[in-house]
Amino acid sequence: KLELTLGLVKPDVASKPEVVKAIREAIIKKNFYFANTRMLTLSQADAESFYGEHKGKFFFPELIAFMTSGPIFAHVLARDNAIKEWRALMGPTKPSQARKDAPQTLRAQFGTEDTFNAVHGSDSPMSAAREVGFYFPDFNVDEWFVKQ
Ligand code: CMP
Repeated sequence: KLELTLGLVKPDVASKPEVVKAIREAIIKKNFYFANTRMLTLSQADAESFYGEHKGKFFFPELIAFMTSGPIFAHVLARDNAIKEWRALMGPTKPSQARKDAPQTLRAQFGTEDTFNAVHGSDSPMSAAREVGFYFPDFNVDEWFVKQ
């Protein structure tokens, strides 16, 4: 079934044109469509709100500092099973683990360490709806996520 997910290219790699290109090509090769794309820089308040579920965790301050450190790309990615397929392409959260278990993935290839893991993806249909709505407030989330 056709599904949407939110894909972020984080500040550690969004500033490197050759990596941005490699990620875009990997996405296309896996048969995703770019339903929408934005380049933006998160404010402190935006980052804290987007990552609200991680508030209080030990890595939260570093995560917020990182995510506000420069421009990011936000993509709405579409294909069948988009949420699961995008997570498979990203690989495990920690790049060191990704390099061991899934060396072909984006985090293995382009991430550095724990927080600096190159990309983000929604983890469920509910978070996909919230996250797409967060970056694309004009996107008709109900049309896609409820009525389908
Ligand atoms: P992401 O998939 O964007 O969701 C939360 C982010 O927090 C995660 O990617 C990492 O950037 C960061 N993160 C998650 N777990 C850890 C951890 N154990 N140590 C440091 N950073 C983490």
